[in-house]
Amino acid sequence: MTTAYLNGAFLPLGEAQVSVMDRGFLFGDGVYEVIPVYGDRLFRLAHHLKRLQNSLDAVRIGNPLSEAEWRDMLAELVARNTGSDQAVYLQVTRGAAPKRDHAFPAATRPTVFAMSTPAAAPRDITAEQGIKAVTLPDIRWQHCNIKAITLLPNVLLRQQAIEADTAEAILIKDGCAIEGAASNIFIVSNGLLVTPPNGPALLPGITRDLIMELAAGNAIPCREADIPTAELFEAEEIWLTSSTREISPVIQLDDTIISGGKPGPLWQRMIGLYQDYKAAVRKGEAA
Ligand code: PDD
Repeated sequence: MTTAYLNGAFLPLGEAQVSVMDRGFLFGDGVYEVIPVYGDRLFRLAHHLKRLQNSLDAVRIGNPLSEAEWRDMLAELVARNTGSDQAVYLQVTRGAAPKRDHAFPAATRPTVFAMSTPAAAPRDITAEQGIKAVTLPDIRWQHCNIKAITLLPNVLLRQQAIEADTAEAILIKDGCAIEGAASNIFIVSNGLLVTPPNGPALLPGITRDLIMELAAGNAIPCREADIPTAELFEAEEIWLTSSTREISPVIQLDDTIISGGKPGPLWQRMIGLYQDYKAAVRKGEAA
């Protein structure tokens, strides 16, 4: 049975209830995080809590918990759920107000919700074999650096990708690849690892950061630069990265076969480094 946290209490997920007047429900007025857990340890927790703070600041919701309170609550949530590998989902909304009004209500208490579910099998067969992706126009708003729960465009884009018999949509804006519907993008171009620079157009992914760190620490040349669509289709490798899918190699983009239809050599190297890093986290030697 999954245990959840809601506004100060731990309870079975099926019993967790929020008001229909919650602004998360009525307006999508809230922010979230997804944090992997390996060997009972929250992966890159400090980075996730920092990004949560940035999202809260951007939408002007006061952080209802201190960093120590977040750490204690999340550790207890993980301990109360089964399995040493989990995925924590947390969200903070502006709370429930007595009446529906777009403007911020005078005095509402933010709603804090978190749950943790068993992690999907790591590096499943799909990742080993590579995934297909489609390019779609980026129909989202201008603040994609905020991890907002308002995900309707992402939902529609991912669904379109699934209906095209692919795993993810790569979003194109102003002639460049930006990120996936729920992932960041890297390409290998002329032997160089390239990912678009952080900014309002994309989410500053925690997995993305780690890959850049691992590249820097292992003499793998990596650069932040725009990825024009033509360069995307000519890439030696394309990877999509996220907390839940780790590093997925793309082997087909629309009708174009990428890296000979199988995961490329730099992906093999990076996934090895990523797994080593996870192993160090499990042992408490990295965070
Ligand atoms: N999504 N870009 C978008 C739009 C995302 O939604 C995500 C992750 C990422 C990757 O970020 P990170 O490496 O920090 O997971 C990039 C999560 C997993 C989700 O919505 O479920």
